[in-house]
Order: sequence, then C-alpha cells, then structure tokens
Amino acid sequence: MSDKAADAKKPGQTGELKRKILSSGNPELDSKMGGGLPSGTLLLIEGSSGAGKSVLSQQILWGALQSGLRATVFTSENSVKSLLSQMESIDLDVMDYLLLGRLRVHSMELARLGESAPVTLLDAMRTYLTKPDLIVIDSFTSAISHAKSDVQILQFFESCKRLCASGMTLLVTLHDSMVNQDLLSALRSMCDAHVILRSEKDGQRLIKTLEVVKIRGAGSVTGAIVGFDVEPGWGMRLIPISKARG
Ligand SMILES: Nc1ncnc2c1ncn2[C@@H]1O[C@H](COP(=O)(O)OP(=O)(O)O)[C@@H](O)[C@H]1O
Ligand SMILES: [Mg+2]
Repeated sequence: MSDKAADAKKPGQTGELKRKILSSGNPELDSKMGGGLPSGTLLLIEGSSGAGKSVLSQQILWGALQSGLRATVFTSENSVKSLLSQMESIDLDVMDYLLLGRLRVHSMELARLGESAPVTLLDAMRTYLTKPDLIVIDSFTSAISHAKSDVQILQFFESCKRLCASGMTLLVTLHDSMVNQDLLSALRSMCDAHVILRSEKDGQRLIKTLEVVKIRGAGSVTGAIVGFDVEPGWGMRLIPISKARG
C-alpha cells in the first residue's frame, strides 16, 4: 500500500475506523444490528407499550457492562430494585456491577418535573464522578408530553449529540404514538441509529418485531426486520420472521 493510501485508512482521520463496537452480549442480536453499535451512537428505540423497548435497552446495557464499560440508567418506569429484578427475570443479573459502581441507576419522575424535565435530565447526564460509556434513558416519552415546546426537545437531542461526539453512547426509548409526526421525523433524522419495535396481532398470536431502520457506521442493516420473543429466564430470543408470522 502506498503511503498515501495508508494515510487515507488511518483510524481517527474519518472518525469511524477507531470507534469501538458495543456488543449486546447476544450474538444474534448484534448481527441483526450490523455487528453491534459503534460507540458514540445516539440510538432511538421506538415502540408502543409492551413492544420491548425496556428489554432491548436492558440487553444492550448488559452487553456494555459485561465488556467492562460503565453505564448510567435514567428510568421513568422502575426503582433501582424493580429494575434489578426485571433484569434478573430475563437472566441479566447486574447487581455486582451496581455494587462495583460500574452501573448507576436513577429513577426519574418526569411528570413531577414537568416542563423542566429535559433540562434537569440533561444536567444529571452531565454530572458524573466517572464518565459513563453508556447512558440509557427509558423512557423519554413523558418528558416530551410535558415539554414547553418541540424546540426544547430538539435542543435536548442536540445536547445528546454533543455528548455522543465525546464518545458516549446514548439510548433513548420513546413511545412513538405519543409524539407528533413532525417532531418524530426530526428526532429520527438526528439520531445515528434508529430501531422500531412493534407488537403486531397475527390471528390469535401477538408477534414482536424489531426493525433496524439505520445504524450509522455499522454494516448494511437498513430495513432488517426480525421477530423475537421475550422468555422468562432467557430474555430476547430472535426468531425468523416467517416462523414469527407462522
Ligand atoms: N421476565 C419476563 N418474562 C416474560 N416476558 C417478559 C419478561 N420481562 C418482560 N417481558 C415481556 O417483554 C415484553 C416487552 O416488555 P418491555 O420491554 O417492558 O416493553 P416496553 O418497554 O416497550 O413497554 C412485554 O410483553 C413483557 O411482558
Ligand atoms: Mg418500558
């Protein structure tokens, strides 16, 4: 390779080659997500109630902790205790990480915070003793419904992007039908990665699907759709779509 060609391939010059890949700890899921999430990704996980937003974010959280990363979770749905037991119920035991201080969990009362929710949350995300590699916000829906304006939410996402530019990976879950379409399209385009989870009725059965709309910096994944089940004691089990629709 000529010096010029070697230079062109030097990591860091494009900012892409150097990025670490975050594994979910579930190889099948990683492969559907283009081999895993590049670090510094802002990932939007959309879906209605029960579609699997929390389970998917818990799976990615688990993978990050397993590979030695630090993580902070902001949850509007759980206490620390209920999050631990929910994760344990799908065989993701994170107690040790919590005790070691590699995992922090903050319960957020978005409804009580009202209009100030996005700003308060952002302040909390920027305040850390040791910088986390991953931040999970599950879910951000209520902050949107209480926000002053769409602009406030867009500004929040812009600040999230700045945190990602410093190498942090950020997961934000959202109940899509609670957000107006214009705002939703703007948020989708701001994110580096976008996953839509659906729970569809097929005759008597409810089928869960995961669509990877985009993951910037990963292999070719656009439009990949896979079916999955959530099984007690196991977690997300991917199933081929034809079988899922079976
Ligand atoms: N331990 C478990 N055993 C069986 N099903 C579970 C378990 N934990 C979660 N689920 C199921 O996984 C699905 C997705 O849940 P969740 O991720 O909480 O949805 P969302 O966050 O999108 O509202 C739900 O149908 C829920 O009942
Ligand atoms: Mg949830």
